[in-house]
Amino acid sequence: MAVHPNPMHRQGLVIPPVTEDVRRFHERLDGYVPTPLRRLDPLAEQLGVAEVWVKDEAWRLGLPAFKVLGASWATYRLLEQRRGATFEPWSSIADLRDRVAELAVGSGRSEVKTRFGTAGAPAPSPAALSTAPLTLAAATDGNHGRAVARMAKLLGLTSRIRVPAGTVAARIDAIASEGAEVTVSDGGYDDAVAEVAAWADDTTLVVSDTSWEGYEQVPAWIIEGYSTIFAEVAEQFADAGSPGPTVVCVPVGVGAFAAATVGAYRRPDEEPALVAAVEPVDAACVMASAVAGEVITLEGEQHSIMAGLNCGTPSPIAWPLVSQGVDVFVTVTDDEARAAMRALADVGVVSGESGAASYAGAVQLAAAGRLVASDRVLLLSTEGATDPVAYEQIVGHPPPSRPMSPAT
Ligand SMILES: Cc1ncc(COP(=O)(O)O)c(C=O)c1O
Repeated sequence: MAVHPNPMHRQGLVIPPVTEDVRRFHERLDGYVPTPLRRLDPLAEQLGVAEVWVKDEAWRLGLPAFKVLGASWATYRLLEQRRGATFEPWSSIADLRDRVAELAVGSGRSEVKTRFGTAGAPAPSPAALSTAPLTLAAATDGNHGRAVARMAKLLGLTSRIRVPAGTVAARIDAIASEGAEVTVSDGGYDDAVAEVAAWADDTTLVVSDTSWEGYEQVPAWIIEGYSTIFAEVAEQFADAGSPGPTVVCVPVGVGAFAAATVGAYRRPDEEPALVAAVEPVDAACVMASAVAGEVITLEGEQHSIMAGLNCGTPSPIAWPLVSQGVDVFVTVTDDEARAAMRALADVGVVSGESGAASYAGAVQLAAAGRLVASDRVLLLSTEGATDPVAYEQIVGHPPPSRPMSPAT
């Protein structure tokens, strides 16, 4: 059985909206445009529902996945925290780079003048006075690490990215193309996360999308950063004259994006939608945790082709929202993800293995009789062809080429 009700689901959960600062931040980044929300009637017909909409994150701020929304906001907030004062006012990434350069060359936080002054800033650490450039570090199964490396490049910083054993060359090369030093762990994703955590020091800032005890703020900012997607979706539904989704299918790795999804569809001012969390059969760590009633780590290694979802432990910071807010868990096989990639390609949506999991999940929901004819289904297609070689093998033709991003 692929569809499982969430035993920890809480009825009546209401989440306050995220600050509009997040969207205003993203809008100032080079190349920001809302990603498309496409209505796909052939898929609605296949699922037997009224409407299917795909939020297509194949090209977000010049990268082939949604993750840069979280990485960029968290990096910004982390650098502000280090500075001890806001970067405002600024209007472009070039402005921001100049202000970050002051940090890296060590002019010292107490000497930095801003509109808001430096009140409340902690005393400068020796690092703030050193001349060492700052380094951003992250563990990743591909998309998050590339996004962190991109932010480092845009802000004139260096980056060190760790990937799990077995990461395909295309993903490693893509991260390295951002100027990052990429190293490969001997273990899986969870091991890579632990290894990067140990790199943190005065000049190495860890930007992790999963949390652990004592490291919660950055992953919380990452969840906030994803809220821009849902602000766009709400506007796009309104522009299309649709009341919005009744069912949302979200691909789940450590659960940070699912936490943002729950936040968006448990708003005080909106009708709640059914949130379906889609995980690979062999990496369903969030579902297993919900069954256990607490965050647990799966035994063994995870080897799904859905690389972004190949996680063994949910993010503790995402857990309260995900455990209470998800309605159903859906597990999908690699073959079902492949079929979903092909189905999306047939209707003109380029979606990689993890991105297409949302449609694979919707197919399972339909098969289990969990969709009704009046449903409006939102599929979060969270990536494009992040592994172009595999994409071509699965879909039968290469992914379309993309324009050069402003940053390259
Ligand atoms: C393309 C894609 N979709 C979904 C996810 C899942 O996000 P999370 O780990 O926050 O659950 C990831 C994570 O890396 C991803 O890369």
